[in-house]
Amino acid sequence: MNILHLALELITLAHSYVQLFAPRLGDILTYPKMANRYYLDTMGCQMNERDSETLAGILEQLGYQPTAAAADADVVVFNTCTVRAKPHHKLFSKLGELRRIKQRQPNKIIVVCGCVAQIAAEEIRRRAPYVDIIIGPRNYSRFAAALAQRRQLGSSGEPIVVTDDRETIPEGLPVCRYTEISAFVNVTYGCNNFCAYCIVPYTRGREQSRQMTDIVGEVQSLVAAGYKEVTLLGQNVNSYGHDLAERVDFADLLAEVDQIPSLARIRFTTSHPKDLSVKLLAAMRDLPSVCEHLHLPIQAGDDEVLTRMGRGYTYAHYRGLVDAARQRIPDIAISTDVMVGFPGETDEQFRNTVRAFEEIRFSQAFMFKYSDRPGTRAAQMPDKVPEAVKQRRLEQVVALQNDIAREINRQQVGKVFEVLVERADPKSPGKMRGRTRTNKLMIFPGGEDLIGQLVPVQAEAAYLWGFLGKLPSES
Ligand code: 5AD
Ligand code: SF4
Repeated sequence: MNILHLALELITLAHSYVQLFAPRLGDILTYPKMANRYYLDTMGCQMNERDSETLAGILEQLGYQPTAAAADADVVVFNTCTVRAKPHHKLFSKLGELRRIKQRQPNKIIVVCGCVAQIAAEEIRRRAPYVDIIIGPRNYSRFAAALAQRRQLGSSGEPIVVTDDRETIPEGLPVCRYTEISAFVNVTYGCNNFCAYCIVPYTRGREQSRQMTDIVGEVQSLVAAGYKEVTLLGQNVNSYGHDLAERVDFADLLAEVDQIPSLARIRFTTSHPKDLSVKLLAAMRDLPSVCEHLHLPIQAGDDEVLTRMGRGYTYAHYRGLVDAARQRIPDIAISTDVMVGFPGETDEQFRNTVRAFEEIRFSQAFMFKYSDRPGTRAAQMPDKVPEAVKQRRLEQVVALQNDIAREINRQQVGKVFEVLVERADPKSPGKMRGRTRTNKLMIFPGGEDLIGQLVPVQAEAAYLWGFLGKLPSES
């Protein structure tokens, strides 16, 4: 190691301590560049996908290059999810696969971040003591410092654990986007709802809204870089602004973002039915770039189950929102999340959920079996539904929803949709893929010159996943 290198390492070490013990947004630009490789594995939701873009941004600013194999990487990062037991367990099997590699390559730095890191640091230390860094989703401004510290300390000893869920999320962290046409933009972080089944308030902390000027600024720079569409992300976008000094709500934010020239489309997710306002529906109707798609998780169609879940609305209220949305925005597509087998759910209560699906006819649904999450209220509830019953109910609702979605799509064959072309279809050469404003996938013959453009495409054949189409000028 030459003198200059040694000096740089010492500066880095001093810097990392300042960072860790004075937890401010680091000026990681001053870190020395290193020609190392990172492997980043993302599980879970769109929040995590967006967070991974920040993690990648930080790593690349430090000089790391991506690699597709954990075995080749100097830093292996797992961005984790614990919304259900399955992804939680998946992390530990992935860590198990790395145990041998870490024995052979002790300098490889293994990082667990995301939702499992936040709530299960002890479990990670016990089951995978070779993990080097455990860092929660609100603490990524300290990721660079933790890495630098780990590099200095070497791989022996205790992991570095940073899991402060009260930390304010900083602006301006580096970002390395995975997409070129459509980008995720955070609107709120965290969640205050504490639905009985849900781990998210424990993993992502209390709700924090970003300043409107920061959000608008980010979208402006995305548009300047050629992006055509943004998806505004929050655990509950409808409560945007309640914690800001300025009296603004989500509809006001949509109106501001809609003003940005050359932005073709605005999407947003997720909306909580208890906070969805008529003002928001009016904004969706009136603002040209806001897409005709509403993701509105119902979770259950039975009032007793909804009460036990702590959702704060009845089925009638939910139904009223759907009707109000369809009245104002006739072409709107409404998608949902639903959970079957919540503790105590009877056959009759489940049938109410099935009836709700028959009545409402969602364009798309994400359907889950209830999964016990330790620490939540539901985990303590009696009358857990047996696995076989949950499985049967899930299959029933999936079969019903698949029929409905296919039928809705079939009814639209022949219609011409505005499609934002995102990329070449990897499975069919000569074909492009994009989305309709109602968030349906469209695959159609076309050239790569169409990527990023809004083109009219006629639906020719309907499938569960969307449409095969053609440019209307073709015969
Ligand atoms: N079990 C099963 N599904 C869950 N979800 C959230 N928590 C649980 C749980 N404990 C589902 C909800 C939510 C979606 C993101 O995941 O339907 O809307
Ligand atoms: Fe996203 Fe929830 Fe999974 Fe966290 S636990 S990654 S918030 S789905």
